[in-house]
Amino acid sequence: MNDAIGPAAPPEGARLRALRDEFPILAHSNYLNSCSLGALSRRAEGRLGEFLGRWHTMGASAWYEHWLGALDELRGRMERFFGAEAGEVALSPSTSVALASIAESIDWDARPRVVTTELDFPTLVYQFRARPEVEVVVLRSEDGLGVEPAQFAEVVDERTALIATSHVQFMTGYRQDLEALGRIAREAGALTLIDGYQGAGQVVTHPRDEGVDVYTSGPLKWLCGGPGLSYLWVRRELVPELTPRLVSWFGVRDPFRFDPGAVELRDDARRFEMGTPALATVHTALGAQELLDEVGIEAIEARNRDLTERLVRALRGGGFEPRVPGDPARRSAIVTVPHPDPTGAVAALAARGIIVDARPGIVRFSPHFYNTVDEVEGAAAALGLTL
Ligand SMILES: Cc1ncc(COP(=O)(O)O)c(C=O)c1O
Repeated sequence: MNDAIGPAAPPEGARLRALRDEFPILAHSNYLNSCSLGALSRRAEGRLGEFLGRWHTMGASAWYEHWLGALDELRGRMERFFGAEAGEVALSPSTSVALASIAESIDWDARPRVVTTELDFPTLVYQFRARPEVEVVVLRSEDGLGVEPAQFAEVVDERTALIATSHVQFMTGYRQDLEALGRIAREAGALTLIDGYQGAGQVVTHPRDEGVDVYTSGPLKWLCGGPGLSYLWVRRELVPELTPRLVSWFGVRDPFRFDPGAVELRDDARRFEMGTPALATVHTALGAQELLDEVGIEAIEARNRDLTERLVRALRGGGFEPRVPGDPARRSAIVTVPHPDPTGAVAALAARGIIVDARPGIVRFSPHFYNTVDEVEGAAAALGLTL
């Protein structure tokens, strides 16, 4: 296992070429859709092959000799990635389940209010809308891109249990100021629950340092590890205060005692785990994470920032008006462009080997560290041909 913290410099030249060779899709596509699905690397595929090989040769004994260890390896790797302490990361089947685990752990009688925004991915707000006892406050965005911390401060009060919102908004790429949100919540005695699916892997993510309480993410997108798994980081001090009502045998102290008599929850974040994780994804995620950690998240963020600025410039040069926040600190590598026919444009670009996606009224680009300047500028030029 290579735990090297990656070099600070973004990959360029020969290093970038070697890195790109790790991702077969890049050989035939201009792949700019990492916010939907990160590219599969040979490293990830290699770990999957190892898992399949052991399944063939060892069967169930691989559980004890390898796979329980692989779960620990992944939790530990993600704890280091999140700048977290040991015992702060749980594996969960999806972001929706991770969010539901937390929603089911809150005492809503004492504080019935949740503050969220209209820009968050709907699965977040669904967790609270489904609970009649919860009062949901949905903040509106004034510019359609983001919501200012001051807007949260106006409504977060002593009846508020949670600020529940995203690290990076999935439709606008707006990167929220987590430190400010953490401060606002703390001052009111509330908690922060951050959906980081569009954050972790494209920008530095150290929720503990930023004063966040709970952060969810997963390997599917920017972490390039595939579907079927999510990561739930919970501030260690908070764990004993959150008693989940969604429980499983993975969440109890001694699962192999098979004791149906009492639910004795673990005293770390694993109390939120919901049964046997998808082992194939555990392995692809391990391979992918090893590679990302070698490149280093600081270098990845720096490279993504450069690619984003070049993409925005190229789109503007082509007469488009990309919807990016004015403040560069609030931007991320999700760039959306209003277009009269987004679905048609995505299909036309796909015919040229350029993979982006559409949302209502917009074409969405999401370059990642493995993309080149030529790719982002070429995609912007190709979009010009779709008008
Ligand atoms: C920000 C965000 N949160 C949550 C989800 C959905 O997560 P899951 O399907 O793992 O519940 C997505 C998926 O696209 C997303 O972009």
